Amino acid sequence: MININDLKFYFDYSSQKGFNMDTYTIALIIHLFCAIIFIGFVFADVIVLTAINKVVDHDTLLKLKNAISNRARKIFPLSVLILILSGGFMLSKYINSNDGFLNNSLQQLLMIKVLIAFIIVFGIIYSLTCKILKKQPHSIMIHFHKIVLVLGIIIVILAKLMFVI
Ligand code: HEM
Repeated sequence: MININDLKFYFDYSSQKGFNMDTYTIALIIHLFCAIIFIGFVFADVIVLTAINKVVDHDTLLKLKNAISNRARKIFPLSVLILILSGGFMLSKYINSNDGFLNNSLQQLLMIKVLIAFIIVFGIIYSLTCKILKKQPHSIMIHFHKIVLVLGIIIVILAKLMFVI
């Protein structure tokens, strides 16, 4: 049976021990959730949802794809924006006027990660712009999600490697 004094002691003890979450950790958790949502969707789209291509007729497939893309367009630009903003906040801890720019392997790998991330961002902006302007996108965009999945996996590996190399 939990007695109230134990609980009271626990909260006093933990707040004295600084159990308050700093902004960086909050940014990291937000960043991680956005990465899971973003890469998770691209994974599902490229690896899982393609399973329906062969089992439904063309019209139904188009309806399904439109329904999914309409929902995706509401979620993913925002999750990528939050990913970039939370990432930018965290980046300033490692790359800044004091620590410089490309002075150590962490900064170099982080900059490669950011560069790859901005290739994805430009692709998203290009695809949304074509959609809004009703313009036919370049044929490479048919493979865009496959490209984003590969780049996303590289980004996640870099995000961990940069702290161990
Ligand atoms: C598609 C885009 C991106 C994805 C999928 C992504 C994914 C991730 C993942 C999975 C982590 C590891 C989190 C952890 O260890 O718990 C991470 C860490 C990090 N990301 Fe990103 N990221 C992206 C874009 C960015 C951008 C654009 C920036 C900077 C402008 C950035 C800056 C960082 C930093 C500084 C860390 C290290 C945080 C730490 O462990 O202290 N990320 N990212």
